[in-house]
Amino acid sequence: MSRVRAIAIATDTPGWHGRRLVRAFEALGVQSRVVSLSHCRVDLEANRWGIVIPGFENALPDGVLVREIAAGSFEQITLRLGLLHALAEWGVPVCNSARAVERTVDKSMTSMLLRHAGIATPPTWVSESASDARAILMRETAAGHRVVLKPLFGSQGKGLLRLGSGDALPDPATVQGVYYLQRFVEPAADGGRDYRVFVIGGRSVAAMTRQGAGWVHNVAQGARCETATLEPDLCRLAERAVAAVGADYAGVDLMRAADGTALVIEVNGIPAWRGLQSVSAEDIAHRLARHFHDRHLAVAHSVAR
Ligand SMILES: Nc1ncnc2c1ncn2[C@@H]1O[C@H](COP(=O)(O)OP(=O)(O)OP(=O)(O)O)[C@@H](O)[C@H]1O
Ligand SMILES: [Mg+2]
Repeated sequence: MSRVRAIAIATDTPGWHGRRLVRAFEALGVQSRVVSLSHCRVDLEANRWGIVIPGFENALPDGVLVREIAAGSFEQITLRLGLLHALAEWGVPVCNSARAVERTVDKSMTSMLLRHAGIATPPTWVSESASDARAILMRETAAGHRVVLKPLFGSQGKGLLRLGSGDALPDPATVQGVYYLQRFVEPAADGGRDYRVFVIGGRSVAAMTRQGAGWVHNVAQGARCETATLEPDLCRLAERAVAAVGADYAGVDLMRAADGTALVIEVNGIPAWRGLQSVSAEDIAHRLARHFHDRHLAVAHSVAR
């Protein structure tokens, strides 16, 4: 018989994803509570762990599924990630781990890990120096390439800029002092699109294509989602990318170069899946809950805390 008491689903905006997850865990006999990391606190006097999580005052949760870390100051994000690191230290399974979240939120870290693992990704340069960035831009455009400038912590396709020959770089303040430049993947003749492959527990479970009106194909930017078959080369690449960042689950953005080569653009360690669910027969929340249960809860409750 399961000795799991309750797990926490970390999110500030439970909404659709929270409801789907709570129901999916319920179906597995696991009670879950939605918790906002911004409402958790450190209190060394409160209990032997020094952590207070609303709804879990006298115990730690049996696991934490990280669904969202709300935007905040550097200090707020550091505190919230610190709480997740500490929970893992105290033996609580945290999925995705704080380490995997850190590695995927920082686009430069993701790029380095992908390259180190030999996973195809466009040439990328990251520097605090505007003159370095200018030199890269000039070199790339002279060679006939365009370049994408991205916020290091960007999401949902916001703040992306495509630069070509003769374009000026924005000043350092606009990019928070860091220039993340990536060679633009020119679309194939049949138009631009990208692929989102959702990987859980090392396996691709659902895929879609996203096609926007411009070159940024994010659902949040109005891209149209269409169901896609799980093409073996894309799935394999996505699964390797998720392993490279050490995530349990992730949404991987991929593109095909004009010659058909698949490239990983990004790994999202806190992916939303409402758009993907709308075109997928697979119940993604259920797959995620089942993975979390089988991988983390089935063994974790045998460890005494
Ligand atoms: N190097 C590139 N070449 C061509 N298109 C790109 C390139 N990088 C990004 N794009 C387009 O812009 C979109 C957004 O870029 P990316 O996924 O890197 O950041 P993001 O979506 O803002 O971050 P997140 O996925 O974490 O929300 C991609 O899905 C793709 O459509
Ligand atoms: Mg993306």
